[in-house]
Amino acid sequence: MAILNSIADLRALARRRVPRAIFEYADRGSYDELTLRRNRADLDALQLRQRVGIDVAKISTASSMLGQACALPLGIAPTGLTGLFHRDGEICGARAAAAAGVPFCLSTVSICSIEDVSEACATPFWFQLYLMRDRGFNEDLMSRARAARCPVLLLTLDLPVLGLRRRDAKNGLSVPPRLTLGNALDIASKPGWALGMLRARRRTFGNLDGRLTAPGGLRSLSSWLNEQAYPQASWQDVAWVRAQWPGRLVIKGILDPEDACRAVDLGADAIVVSNHGGRQLDGAPSSISALPRIVAALQGRCEVLFDGGIMSGQDVLKALASGAQGCFMGKAFLYALGARGEAGVTLHRPTRG
Ligand SMILES: Cc1cc2nc3c(=O)[nH]c(=O)nc-3n(C[C@H](O)[C@H](O)[C@H](O)COP(=O)(O)O)c2cc1C
Repeated sequence: MAILNSIADLRALARRRVPRAIFEYADRGSYDELTLRRNRADLDALQLRQRVGIDVAKISTASSMLGQACALPLGIAPTGLTGLFHRDGEICGARAAAAAGVPFCLSTVSICSIEDVSEACATPFWFQLYLMRDRGFNEDLMSRARAARCPVLLLTLDLPVLGLRRRDAKNGLSVPPRLTLGNALDIASKPGWALGMLRARRRTFGNLDGRLTAPGGLRSLSSWLNEQAYPQASWQDVAWVRAQWPGRLVIKGILDPEDACRAVDLGADAIVVSNHGGRQLDGAPSSISALPRIVAALQGRCEVLFDGGIMSGQDVLKALASGAQGCFMGKAFLYALGARGEAGVTLHRPTRG
């Protein structure tokens, strides 16, 4: 058994345990993956200033995000289909985050529903919203999130249309999805994952229950999402959401100072500087390179949160040093979840794989 003491180790283990189509759905980016690679390369290129003669006997990572105290300024980002990486994956993530004292954000396109997570985890979580054509459904999701006592709504703006994900197409996770012989053989070689899935609370898309035209599954989700895609989304819609949502509102997917200022003008309490982990507009700058100019333009008018490439505490440090109040991780969380389930996400010291 190997020692697991980095996200790279968890990624390697997840790759062995989770079917390839699902692993690569998380691991890969859009188009030519330039932005995906830049997120990491630009974080790696930042150097830390080494100072000495400073008393570090007592240090604390405690901070706050959106007025919520956190043990570490690092939350779990919303990720769609999380429950496919491990059975009840969203519940595992919410519990692990609550135990660690950091925020967890549930995606609109999660497997476990808002209600599943709130029943299984007493600590309030954040909710992420995609704008859809059906206004009534947007309203319905917001009122379900309110009923679940979600204090924060993250409105994601960087997915007006889905980025081209070449690996998903090759793996049959595209629209329409294909169950290839290769996929079936791959799943057969991951018995632990398959057995877990058989015992999962859900295997369909919890928040969309009753909305899909055919009984659950990726095929009906894709056709429903195609119908519901709302490429017209504009700042007017942001104003509409602001008027509907009484809690804290965070605009996610900001990469430009002008957009950051626009979000605050419309009443956002915070923004997330993000390029969706390199999964949407390929060719866009890395999140870390965009961060300082956005922080400067905002002049402290709202909290600036950050995601894109976070794989270690040092990465968090670099983002904070560049002006972020807190960070989120997407892929790192899914690797941990795929590797060891809730224990993998909770892991805080080296362990054996
Ligand atoms: C598999 C996967 C699914 C995602 N699904 C969503 C989603 O449903 N909603 C959303 O706002 N962002 C989604 N994201 C983007 C993340 O919230 C976050 O912005 C990104 O993962 C940060 O980059 P990192 O993966 O390098 O940490 C997803 C990311 C991944 C990897």
